[in-house]
Amino acid sequence: MKIISAKYALTAVNAKQYPTDGLPEIALAGRSNVGKSSMINKLTNRRGMARTSSTPGKTRTLNFYLVNEAFYLVDLPGYGYAKVGKTMLSEWGKMLDTYLLNRPNLKGVIQLIDLRHPPMKNDKEAFAWLMAHDFPFFIVANKADKLSRSAQNKNLKIIRDELNLAKDFPVIPFSAETGQGVEEVWQEIEKWQ
Ligand code: GTP
Ligand code: MG
Repeated sequence: MKIISAKYALTAVNAKQYPTDGLPEIALAGRSNVGKSSMINKLTNRRGMARTSSTPGKTRTLNFYLVNEAFYLVDLPGYGYAKVGKTMLSEWGKMLDTYLLNRPNLKGVIQLIDLRHPPMKNDKEAFAWLMAHDFPFFIVANKADKLSRSAQNKNLKIIRDELNLAKDFPVIPFSAETGQGVEEVWQEIEKWQ
């Protein structure tokens, strides 16, 4: 994907504030601190466009970034930071399920998981939730720069096993530090357009 332009567009906490231009949207979901905001910056080559922090819970709103004047990347608040509720829906918060369940513009979701560790309970719940709702989605396993290639492969297999993934379900090792996986992620995203 050639990035011609990328810029912060708007922040929303309710449906009235979503963009009204009808452009397609791709959302990034994942545990707090997994690197969603960092990934948006790396994918678009815009250091510091999305705010990042080593403290979990940085992104608390839905933040829309307009890419090539053609589509939005949507930075979602991390799960695991929002208050724990009875169901996945209440855990992700009303803000999130309102968006994910009622947004015709949403073309697909990228679920981020930390490649260094096996999927945690909330990763598994989020995965099951996305599956159950039939979302087009794939997994990006972030922070690959922290691991050797052989450790990456070992952990990718653990992720696939733990989530019972079908052979053809994409899990892309990624690093928001080094840019590993950027092209592969864009290729998957382009399948939705
Ligand atoms: P919330 O907004 O709290 O949901 O977090 P987030 O998922 O947006 O995470 P964010 O992008 O703010 O990154 C969290 C921390 O992880 C920051 O200190 C980043 O520098 C670091 N980080 C993100 N991606 C990577 C990566 O690929 N490799 C390494 N080594 N660090 C990363
Ligand atoms: Mg964030």
